[in-house]
Amino acid sequence: MRMYDLIMKKRNGGELTEEEIYFMIDGYVNGEIPDYQMSAMMMAVYFVGMNEKETLYLTMAMANSGEMLDLSMIEGVKVDKHSTGGVGDKTSLALTPMVAACGVKIAKMSGRGLGHTGGTIDKLESFEGFSTGITTEEFIKNVNEIGISIMGQTKDLAPADKLLYALRDVTATVDNMSLIASSIMSKKLAAGADAIVLDVKTGSGAFMKSKEDAFSLAAEMVKIGKNAGRTMMAVISDMDQPLGNAVGNALEVKEAIATLRGNGPKDFTDLCMTLGSCMLQAANVAGSHEEALQMLQSVIDNGSALEKLADFIEAQGGNRQMVYEEELLPCAQLIIPVYAPVTGYIRKITCDEVGICSLILGGGRETKESVIDLSVGIVLDKKVCDFVYDGEIIAYIHANDMEKAEICKERLLQAYEIGDEKPEPNDIVYGILK
Ligand code: URA
Repeated sequence: MRMYDLIMKKRNGGELTEEEIYFMIDGYVNGEIPDYQMSAMMMAVYFVGMNEKETLYLTMAMANSGEMLDLSMIEGVKVDKHSTGGVGDKTSLALTPMVAACGVKIAKMSGRGLGHTGGTIDKLESFEGFSTGITTEEFIKNVNEIGISIMGQTKDLAPADKLLYALRDVTATVDNMSLIASSIMSKKLAAGADAIVLDVKTGSGAFMKSKEDAFSLAAEMVKIGKNAGRTMMAVISDMDQPLGNAVGNALEVKEAIATLRGNGPKDFTDLCMTLGSCMLQAANVAGSHEEALQMLQSVIDNGSALEKLADFIEAQGGNRQMVYEEELLPCAQLIIPVYAPVTGYIRKITCDEVGICSLILGGGRETKESVIDLSVGIVLDKKVCDFVYDGEIIAYIHANDMEKAEICKERLLQAYEIGDEKPEPNDIVYGILK
């Protein structure tokens, strides 16, 4: 078999067989197939596409390119959750303790942020001493004992995806449905959970700008997971403006804690309840959406969801007291209000721009080596559809450097569009697929 022939076959609209896809992935990981041939193949796939079977084979070949985590030592149904990412997306921080407090076993792998989107691991490191650099044995022990553990992605998890993603990133071949679906699902399948709940974002701050594409991506991933024998559910949710109010690591942790106390922003709380309901149903812990919602509300009301977060933080070396005393979490020195420049309705808040503002303040990573400032970020006081008067506060900038805060302020004002006409409100959840 020759890679040249496979590139030609795909370029001419052909269908790759399982054997050919394994040959290509194994050869690329072993270094036998060079980057330039794989780049040509990715571009051919980008234009010609892959059918359902090819996408499944590609996913399985990438999942099998490294270690497949064995979670059989954990009793019960293990549930994982994955978000396609966005600005202010602190969902895992509030959702996983809520669901674990209802008796579901959460075994989750998370990543760090890069560019203007944040990562769960960075946010969790706001808790002094907390580490996701635990061994697989500790991971399994924690899930068994307290019902929840989150670890960083191991080097051996789907190494083919790591290589391919880096290649796609520099060859303009990221935004292809089959390539995104197989990339995400290869990691999720290798991470070993029995049930996977996906949060597929759509809007200006998401990979999938249109709802139609988001539904297609969700359907493709659900199909792949089911074909691989996993229980699958996907929620399609809005990312046309930042989720909740807080953007920035420790600020998002504080908002997640407020949500676990029952005081979170409505859009964020509603999304957590929907995803939580899916996770409870996927784990067969709740028989219906209504029952799941009741269970989730009761663990918020009786404090056990917050307690679960503290147990989880402590089990991974963190200071549990920080869950109860917010002032112990990292705090920025400067809190600067941003005022509305005109009177009117907030018509739009460009997600990516708000993410970039946090990056400018030092809250994000420009390169993998950057050291981030966990305390900085933005708290949006007004969101889309709110009416504001000229001079009214619309947001607060949390900063440690006045010069950066000024640049951020200029940019944040550009992110807001204020006009006379009230826009149609977006739903936070557009639909659920299973
Ligand atoms: N996230 C991934 O893990 N892979 C993609 O291709 C896109 C988003």
